[in-house]
Amino acid sequence: MMKEFKVTPIRNGTVIDHIECGMALKVLRIIGMTDGKVQSPVSVLMHVPSKKEGWKDVVKVEDRELDPREVDKIALIAPKATINIIRDFNVAEKHNVVMPERVVGKARCSNPNCITNQNEPIEPEFVVEGKNQPVLRCVYCDRNVDDIAENLL
Ligand SMILES: Nc1ncnc2c1ncn2[C@@H]1O[C@H](COP(=O)(O)OP(=O)(O)OP(=O)(O)O)[C@@H](O)[C@H]1O
Ligand SMILES: [Mg+2]
Ligand SMILES: [Zn+2]
Repeated sequence: MMKEFKVTPIRNGTVIDHIECGMALKVLRIIGMTDGKVQSPVSVLMHVPSKKEGWKDVVKVEDRELDPREVDKIALIAPKATINIIRDFNVAEKHNVVMPERVVGKARCSNPNCITNQNEPIEPEFVVEGKNQPVLRCVYCDRNVDDIAENLL
């Protein structure tokens, strides 16, 4: 029997479940939960067994819902994540993250010579290729973003 992991249930908030192992802290950064910015309790589970298969990370944030821009960025680094809205201790809504087809103004191009890195008023824009291991291809210079999680804006 696998050990059960328990954290205090939350009354209202968001559970980001089925995060790829190792990505929990990157998810926290995407939702702005970094040092000194946390305003309500946050639980982070890393490398816990998943009932589906293998292991996962989970992030639970009280009194906070996510905006679509945050969910798009989570999709890029954790394509199998689910967003569970908790109301009065129950899962009121469950959504799979959806891989965006284009990413505009949310990541920086890895090519230092790209027009989007030249102090021009041009928003970086990428086509997303691949669903499970997404690749971001710059529409201006064709370069792929090297490490998506490290290049989110
Ligand atoms: N009140 C709560 N406080 C904290 N976490 C919660 C609360 N209710 C549910 N969760 C967590 O939210 C996630 C989704 O809950 P749910 O009951 O839908 O589980 P599930 O049936 O295993 O879902 P899935 O099939 O998506 O894995 C789980 O990780 C669960 O532990
Ligand atoms: Mg489950
Ligand atoms: Zn570019």
